[in-house]
Amino acid sequence: MIIVHDPPAMQQLADDARKSGKTIAFVPTMGALHAGHLTLIRKATGYGDSVVTSIFVNPTQFGAGEDFDRYPRNLDKDAALAAEAGSDVVFAPSAGAMYPQGYATFVSVEGIAGLLEGQSRPGHFRGVATVVAKLCLIVKPHVLLLGQKDGQQVIVLRRMLMDLNIPVRLVVVPTVREKDGLAMSSRNVYLTPGQREEAPVLYASLRMAEQRLREGERNAETVRSAMRDMITSGSHGVIDYVSVARGDTLEELSVIAPPLSVMISLAVRFGPTRLIDNISLTL
Ligand code: PAF
Repeated sequence: MIIVHDPPAMQQLADDARKSGKTIAFVPTMGALHAGHLTLIRKATGYGDSVVTSIFVNPTQFGAGEDFDRYPRNLDKDAALAAEAGSDVVFAPSAGAMYPQGYATFVSVEGIAGLLEGQSRPGHFRGVATVVAKLCLIVKPHVLLLGQKDGQQVIVLRRMLMDLNIPVRLVVVPTVREKDGLAMSSRNVYLTPGQREEAPVLYASLRMAEQRLREGERNAETVRSAMRDMITSGSHGVIDYVSVARGDTLEELSVIAPPLSVMISLAVRFGPTRLIDNISLTL
C-alpha cells in the first residue's frame, strides 16, 4: 500500500493504472476509519483492480462552530486499517493542496442540497459536492463507493455525477451498525457513556416508523410524531429533524400513496454531538 499526498502525483498514478487496463474503485473518507469504512473498502476490492481510499478532513463542508478542529485525525492508524481492508493506495492531500491560495471554484447542487441536512448545515453539501468532484478528477475512479448512512449525501452526489457527466459508477453500501443498532459513525466516539446508552433509540425509531408504514399507516405526520415521541421519551437527545420524505427528491410527505420510495431520516443532538441515520424503503 502506498500513501500519496500530492494531487498531481495521484493523477499520474491513476493515469498509469488506467493505461495498463486496471479499473479503479474509490472510497472517499475523512479518516477516523471504523467498521463502516472498512466494509466499504473491502467491498471496493470486488469492483476494482486497484482500490484508492482518500483521507481528507474537508474544511469546506464544515460550518462555523462545527467539529472541524476536533475531528479525529490519525493518518498512520487509518492508513494501516485501510491497507488491511484491501486498499492499494491512500490519497491524503493537505488542505493547502486541495484549496490553494486563490481557490475560487465550488459545485452547488440546487434544490435537494438545501433540504434536511442542508437546512441545518448551510453550505455543507456545497463543500461535499466540491471535494468529491475534485477527488473524482484526481483519483479518476471507474467506481465510487458511498455508504447509505449518509443517505442525503448519496442522493446529492448521484445528482452531481449525472449533472456534470462524471463517468463514474456509484455503488451504495448498506449502513453498518453496532450490535444495538447504532449506525457506525466517526462521531460516536464523542458520546458520553450515558449518551451512548441512549443513542440506539434513533435506529429503534426508524425501525418503528418503517414498520408503521409497512403495516399500512398512510399519514406521514402521524409517523413523524411517533418518532419524535419515541426519541424524546427514550433519551435526552434534542431532535434537529425527523423526516418521512420521497426517496428521490426528499420532498416531505403528507399522504403516502404507494408505489413510492421513501426515506425516513433523522438528525438528533446528544450534547454537542449530532448524529444522523436513515432507512430507505419501497412501498
Ligand atoms: O462522507 C464523508 O466522509 C464525506 O462527506 C466525504 C464523502 C468523504 C467528502 O468529504
